[in-house]
Amino acid sequence: MQTKLLSEREIDKAAFLLKNGGVVAIPTETVYGLAANAFDGLAVSKIFCAKGRPMDNPLIVHISDIQEIYQLVAEFPVKAQKLCRKFWPGPLTIILPKSKKIPREVSAGLETVAVRLPSHKLARNLIKKAGIPLAAPSANISGKPSPTTALHVLEDMDGKIDAILDGGTCSVGLESTVITLTTNPPTLLRPGGVTLKQLESEIGEVDLDDAVLKKVDNSKKVISPGMKYKHYAPNAKVIILECSREKFIDYVNHKSSENVAALCYNEDVNFIQVKTFTYGSYKNPELQAKTLFDALREIDKDESVEIVYAICPSKSGIGMAVYNRLVRAAGFEVLYIE
Ligand code: TXA
Ligand code: MG
Repeated sequence: MQTKLLSEREIDKAAFLLKNGGVVAIPTETVYGLAANAFDGLAVSKIFCAKGRPMDNPLIVHISDIQEIYQLVAEFPVKAQKLCRKFWPGPLTIILPKSKKIPREVSAGLETVAVRLPSHKLARNLIKKAGIPLAAPSANISGKPSPTTALHVLEDMDGKIDAILDGGTCSVGLESTVITLTTNPPTLLRPGGVTLKQLESEIGEVDLDDAVLKKVDNSKKVISPGMKYKHYAPNAKVIILECSREKFIDYVNHKSSENVAALCYNEDVNFIQVKTFTYGSYKNPELQAKTLFDALREIDKDESVEIVYAICPSKSGIGMAVYNRLVRAAGFEVLYIE
């Protein structure tokens, strides 16, 4: 199959493909998504094939207007309404009991559905034009970093999907915050652009799922199937160093060798003697979020790199999301240096 690269002006072509059971990669403010008609089980199953995604991992359904949620869920409790009113459109996904219209392929056999109203204008216009909600996971090959540009999508999906709609670089750069309202109190399953503190200020207590910051035992039942899979892993081995910037620089400089690299802050590049990849400024967690996946993809392109030492980000605010992704890329290998 030939994958068409569509510009913003060709939005009608993308809508046509989606209405007719095709799979199209679409931009959102978080990361690019691999979209298909959420009511068409056959179209949705093509997404799983293109990504190589395990069939037991459910998808998020994207809508363009809050009213569209009523056809997707069986209940819309007050706390969910509060969250949607405050944070939509934006990088928040909420999980609720599903309606009968959701096919098994979307919910992966669960009784729930994840819903999101993205803020990216092109994404919302496309959903409107297509006239259907779109099921879409991140548009990467399963296990690779999520794509934040159309070029990233092309690297992973060329020849496997109908088209890619180019909407520029994603402004948030990490996937949405995922919260389930099917537990009491609600549980944060994946940190993202909307922080735990912001959620709590709207609806009170929110539990933090164990899998957000720690490695969970694979045999344990997890609420969010995506949590149990290896994620965002470059080919090189990543090790996080939890320490000051000075200690980090000192540590990697003692390692100097050809196959070692550092994933560091912009400010530290000039002090480091091994190859460097950067993921933003130490002062700017939003920029770290926006840059991390691109940095991981760049590391992958350099075959000489075998070990990457990564400076540990702050874990507060959006930093929790940055750490959550990085610690998965590192397979939970963290060294604490006093
Ligand atoms: O920002 C995002 O959320 C992007 C863009 C494209 O919207 N999408 C995205 O989708 O990151 P994906 O499939 O890569 O991640 C969705 C996560 C997975 O970990 C999945 O297991 C979980 O949400 N999830 C989806 N539906 C669920 C459900 N009904 N119950 C529990 N977890 C669910
Ligand atoms: Mg994903």
